[in-house]
Amino acid sequence: MTGEIERHEYDVVIIGAGGAGLRAAVECLAKKVRTALVCKSLLGKAHTVMAEGGVAAALGNVWPEDNWQVHFRDTMRGGKMLNNWRMAQLHAQEAPDRVLELEEWGALFDRTGDGRILQRDFGGHRYARLAHVGDRTGLELIRTMQQRAVSEGIDVYMECKIVRLTKDESGAVNGAVGFFRETGRFVAFSAKAVVLATGGIGKAWKFTSNSWESTADGQALALWAGADLIDMECVQFHPTGMVWPPSARGLLVTEGVRGDGGVLKNSDGRRFMFDYISPYFAKETADTIEEGDRWYDDKSFRRPPELLPRDEVARAINSEVKAGRGSPHGGVFLDIASRRSPEEIKRRLPSMYHQFKQLADVDISTDPMEVGPTCHYANGGVRVDADTARTTVAGLYAAGEVAGGLHGANRLGGNSLSDLLVFGRRAGLAAAEHALGTTGRPSLDEAAVAEVVSHAASFFNDDGGESPYVVHADLQETMQNLVGIVRTESELVEAGQRLGELTERAKKVSVSGARVFNPGWHLALDLESMLSCAKCTMLGALERRESRGGQTREDFPKADPELEKVNMVTRLSGDEVTVTPEAKPVMPDELAKLFEEAK
Ligand code: FUM
Repeated sequence: MTGEIERHEYDVVIIGAGGAGLRAAVECLAKKVRTALVCKSLLGKAHTVMAEGGVAAALGNVWPEDNWQVHFRDTMRGGKMLNNWRMAQLHAQEAPDRVLELEEWGALFDRTGDGRILQRDFGGHRYARLAHVGDRTGLELIRTMQQRAVSEGIDVYMECKIVRLTKDESGAVNGAVGFFRETGRFVAFSAKAVVLATGGIGKAWKFTSNSWESTADGQALALWAGADLIDMECVQFHPTGMVWPPSARGLLVTEGVRGDGGVLKNSDGRRFMFDYISPYFAKETADTIEEGDRWYDDKSFRRPPELLPRDEVARAINSEVKAGRGSPHGGVFLDIASRRSPEEIKRRLPSMYHQFKQLADVDISTDPMEVGPTCHYANGGVRVDADTARTTVAGLYAAGEVAGGLHGANRLGGNSLSDLLVFGRRAGLAAAEHALGTTGRPSLDEAAVAEVVSHAASFFNDDGGESPYVVHADLQETMQNLVGIVRTESELVEAGQRLGELTERAKKVSVSGARVFNPGWHLALDLESMLSCAKCTMLGALERRESRGGQTREDFPKADPELEKVNMVTRLSGDEVTVTPEAKPVMPDELAKLFEEAK
């Protein structure tokens, strides 16, 4: 029934081939370790391409005043100080080198008049800091690193879904078991080190910018292998997704539109963001339209409120819609047409122009767009050591969106691309060094491999169970309605109950047909990971009795200074997921001073 299992042995197996996986692969190849890149989709298709507007790095090309300290401070304040300070420091310090390195490898960034890499404004960044390629920056990063990894001879296993990690008798991760989507053939990889770079969890929500791959695979693989997850409650809702037509709902509208001067208006035609300026950014946010507009030419003025961090803009849009001041299809208006010439819009935002023209029949160079929040990014994730990206389980590393810590409670736009470059490299380096320092060959526990295979195949049964698509739709409804932008204790308790029921239903789904390219079967397995991580999000949200970044509790509307000091750690205890607040690393004085100096 399950057929022969294909076998491969490597020093390092990287799961996920978005930006973090590719950058880790490039580093492993440089260290000359035998490396495999395993991806669920086709190579080049990853959520990285949804980071459209740019990669944040304090290059100082447009504003020489910029430097790593300012970037560090912006990242921490954007994350509402929940960030791992060391990750934020390394990220800000190393991002410029990672961007310049990409340029050397062939990335074609937009240029300043004197030929340097151009940088654009984004929310929460003090200076124009995002190196970009129009509004297709993520795609250019993928293209560049993919070319590099392929030319260095990387082994790629495409359309391969990993179901479980394997461990040796000491408890260290030593491989992964999965199957090829195209053929249904099972495969077991043995490895001295495994790097998770699988991205996010967005497909557990109904309205999301994420495509079908983002089903919490890496977070769940880590959890099931005994690793800690942190701050899973801090989910990012990007303020601007498409709201119309229904087929395009949730599709990303890049923050680059606001970065390039686009403004948000309600149904009264009012720039409502002036009513929602938070205490975190009050000092540098303009309270008049005139001052906000001067910012684009002179950074001595204050930023317009449309450039507040994403959590704040998403909440404001949510409030306007709830108050009955929304657009016809339940969003608000985003207007770039009255701010930039049609030529500039088509040159700087070509994908947005085509996306709206083709999908909504709206010409954004003459008319406003309708936009609303869309689930975009997991700020929390697998707990890692800042310097090495090592998880709490030996042999297992994690980088990019799957890892938690860098972004705290809310990620600044553009910091995801720099995250995956900085920590993809660090994860690849540490995994390669771990492999080089490990003697002997990894040997898989055959009983454990057989168990994974038999579990995966068990969904083909005639028990008359439900379709996995029905369970998935109910999961998305639950997360959207009860664990959305604004949460309350009673909603979260109800979500917990429903997730318990959904877990039982998901165990009993039936899949028909054969293993050869069977999306229903793939979803049955993806449901397991989405449900495990949805529980972590729900438990973290229940336990964090405060509002901070991507966690907004209507019943605890303020941030609690005591909870700034803790991560909500979710882990498996037997079969149950538990949540425990645990102290975060404390920032050293020389960095803490940077916040005093900015006051
Ligand atoms: O809006 C955007 O272009 C997305 C960028 C990001 O998530 O970093």
